[in-house]
Amino acid sequence: MSVFEGKHILLGVTGSIAAYKAADIASKLTQAGAEVDVVLTEHARRFITEITFRAITRRPVLIDLFDEPEERQIAHIHLAKRADVLLIAPATANILAKLAYGIADDLLTTLALATQAKLVIAPAMNTVMWQHPAIQENVRILEERGARFVYPVEGMLACGDVGAGKLADTPTILQAVEEVLNPPLRGVRVLVTAGPTEEPIDAVRHISNPSSGKMGYAIAEEAVRQGAEVTLVTGPTLLEPPAGAKTVCVRTAEQMLDACLQMYDQADVVIATAAVSDYRPAEVWQGKRKKGEQEWTIRLVPNPDILRTLGARKGKHILVGFAAETEELLQNAQTKLREKNLDLIVANDVSQEGSGFRTDTNRVTLLWADGSQQALPLMSKREVARHLLEAIRQKLLAR
Ligand SMILES: Cc1cc2nc3c(=O)[nH]c(=O)nc-3n(C[C@H](O)[C@H](O)[C@H](O)COP(=O)(O)O)c2cc1C
Repeated sequence: MSVFEGKHILLGVTGSIAAYKAADIASKLTQAGAEVDVVLTEHARRFITEITFRAITRRPVLIDLFDEPEERQIAHIHLAKRADVLLIAPATANILAKLAYGIADDLLTTLALATQAKLVIAPAMNTVMWQHPAIQENVRILEERGARFVYPVEGMLACGDVGAGKLADTPTILQAVEEVLNPPLRGVRVLVTAGPTEEPIDAVRHISNPSSGKMGYAIAEEAVRQGAEVTLVTGPTLLEPPAGAKTVCVRTAEQMLDACLQMYDQADVVIATAAVSDYRPAEVWQGKRKKGEQEWTIRLVPNPDILRTLGARKGKHILVGFAAETEELLQNAQTKLREKNLDLIVANDVSQEGSGFRTDTNRVTLLWADGSQQALPLMSKREVARHLLEAIRQKLLAR
């Protein structure tokens, strides 16, 4: 049986040149057994008429907030309560801004506030608009709030420009809706480590590194969205703990290892993104050491190797590591994969622009223990998270 069978989907269509493609989406959803209620914005009506959708869905098409097709019900509240998914495709720059800031000045935006249904958004717009910082900020706000985006793709746009902004194709949009209805990682227990560790030298100084935690947090957030049961073990970062994940805050490598060992038996998949300090001061100075004229030599001792420890007792876990390297990326990553008994390593050249610490983007290569490789282009850390989790899901399915 199709996952869409008997599901109630609100399809919001906004004023984009790609609005005609929403007819195909409505048609495919209806054919798959969903009950589709189409909501058009006033501007969408300039591009496509309600008659098209009424014929496809065999249901009334909704436009005006003050229309009441059924006398005893307030339409937007009734629809909002019934919906399983609110899909907005195509989504204009305008609707993204309204959704991000909670504006409710028409039926679609009011519905979006009144519903608890999962939100899937497929934007379409000119490349310059899509890349505008205001739009990207709105996308970030909505993603953090749990919306599932189907990013626009590169191609020839209606305005003649070539670039990112074209509405994703219907199968990709339907797959996103399907994943929201039937989360692909439901029942999978994922342990993620993130951030740096701090190794105290005295009461006010420590050894650390510039890891922001963004990659690990993006993986934890995405895994929650895909239905996984997520535990995040994190070193000190400035990020908000991901909603829906159990977050354990630690400071040192030893504390991170302890937390991971405690959680290990309750995890199916471990994704270690934390940038763990390889060394710690052999002695921690009590209180703050006063500034003086003499040299201060700090003796460092190796920290426990968390991945190696987990790899040595791997059992049925899928163990994934990250290799941040500045040279010989793939060889070094492969050595780490083998020596630590990992299933997958994500090789990350931190010397490249847009990659590694503190950035919002990453360019990585996935290397599996069986020798297979997948090089991903530069993309947002959230997209990297999505690709990585999909690769892991395939591995789980193959078992
Ligand atoms: C021919 C034409 C094509 C347009 N295509 C898009 C588009 O693809 N994406 C977009 O964000 N805005 C596009 N716009 C601008 C929107 O229609 C405009 O911002 C409008 O206010 C959106 O209203 P809505 O979000 O309520 O539907 C287009 C406008 C015109 C005249």
